[in-house]
Amino acid sequence: MGLQYILYSKEDGIVTITLNRPEALNAWSKELAEEFLVAMKDAREDKDVKAVILTGAGEKAFSAGADIKAMQGMNAGKARDLSRMGYRICNAIESSEKPVIAAINGYALGGGMEVSMACDFRVASEHAKMGQTEINIGLIPGWGGTQRLPRIVGKAKAKELIYTGRIIDAKTAFDWGLVTRVVPKEELETAAKEFANQLASKAPEALAVAKTLIEKGVETDLETALELEREGFGVVGSTEDLQEGVSAFIEKRKPTWTGK
Ligand code: CAA
Repeated sequence: MGLQYILYSKEDGIVTITLNRPEALNAWSKELAEEFLVAMKDAREDKDVKAVILTGAGEKAFSAGADIKAMQGMNAGKARDLSRMGYRICNAIESSEKPVIAAINGYALGGGMEVSMACDFRVASEHAKMGQTEINIGLIPGWGGTQRLPRIVGKAKAKELIYTGRIIDAKTAFDWGLVTRVVPKEELETAAKEFANQLASKAPEALAVAKTLIEKGVETDLETALELEREGFGVVGSTEDLQEGVSAFIEKRKPTWTGK
């Protein structure tokens, strides 16, 4: 793919996308964002890929957010463009049929934390630190933080982080439900891979439909969401993989999924 700011590796159906600007704590420059979108598109379109892990290069950071140095001379138009860039990044993750795990290996601040919140899961190392620190430079979250954070931790905790710029540690993030697993630093990569492998071993179409239903369903009223679920259930109910799963259950063997 010829990428400079992204490392892309694939092993046993799991793609790892590594934000690779460690000298700037993996802050999102325009170039990094464009390369990420290319990498994500590749992972989405590759039928062999069953799950994606997103992490940061170096010991210190998952990502310290949008590139603050590029904000000199900012105006309304440029700010909206920056916000749109974040929207595209988060949308590429959230609309992907494949599950995406953020492996948070240090600071996840501002846009870094916001991108992690678009992922299906956040697994953190014990030294990870998370925060919506935009207020400290006179800004607000612009990559979904004002919306996704309250949906994950509730309004009061979201307001506390966004109004104060407080940085929380991995344990607090776990207690708040912002991350679902916390592991020692040296075990993060293995833990994320094990989790990804667990997801990769499931029927892909069932997992994809479940993801879509949860993403879309929680944003609509219950009646409409339940109707969506019935539709989705019908889609999954007509797959070859369901018949394979049922046969495997009856024959007391492991199923072999084809994704059909
Ligand atoms: N943008 C650009 N460069 C950044 C950066 C960022 N967001 N965060 C860190 N860097 C750079 C630093 O400028 C420094 O570069 P130089 O060596 O050239 O000076 C390098 O990364 C290492 O950082 P520090 O020396 O600051 O490292 P530290 O250990 O002392 O502090 C830190 C670490 C607390 C994370 C600190 O770097 C920091 O506060 N970073 C900014 C975090 C932030 O506020 N992020 C929000 C950005 S705005 C945003 O994301 C808006 C949005 O909603 C999309």
